[in-house]
Amino acid sequence: MSCVHKPQKSLVLIGLMGVGKTTVGRRLAHALKLDFRDADEEVEKAAGRSVSEIFADFGEAAFRDGERKVIARLLEEPPMVLALGGGAFVDDETRANVKANAISIWLQADVETLVRRVTRRDTRPLLRGDDPETVLNALLTRRQAAYAEADIHVDASGGSHQITLDGILRALDAREAEA
Ligand code: S3P
Repeated sequence: MSCVHKPQKSLVLIGLMGVGKTTVGRRLAHALKLDFRDADEEVEKAAGRSVSEIFADFGEAAFRDGERKVIARLLEEPPMVLALGGGAFVDDETRANVKANAISIWLQADVETLVRRVTRRDTRPLLRGDDPETVLNALLTRRQAAYAEADIHVDASGGSHQITLDGILRALDAREAEA
């Protein structure tokens, strides 16, 4: 059983689309009695538009600007569990900000698992019209060096989000024991 205490810093979940950052993040927040926030949702609230609409109306660069600002604001708040959109940690400024102010957790899964999960919803502009496996493989190649800079790496390919959550809690326990 895990005995992780409430962390002093926010826990930030990173990783590719479909890996389960939001679902696992909600459960992690519940387990640690912390607030949960989803960066995409916060960007949508700030813009009054969905992520797809922001991409369509203003382009990806504008989405990335908004994303960077929203995450910087959230990192100034008291500790929470924060799920980032898949591209956020690749941004140098956001990555530096997360490293300085939070504990980052990379949820890793094989592309086959991700494809299965992302095809359940059609809300991701980067996947529209293209073969999800090709896109996700390309994104993983481009992003994995940045993702690998996360403090904690957890396997999220397993059968259930509960297994992933247990993996995170074990890793946090181990960090606490080392500190
Ligand atoms: C993106 C991932 C999405 C969202 C946007 C771009 C990406 O978030 O931020 O569609 O660049 O990987 P999820 O990872 O939560 O799907």
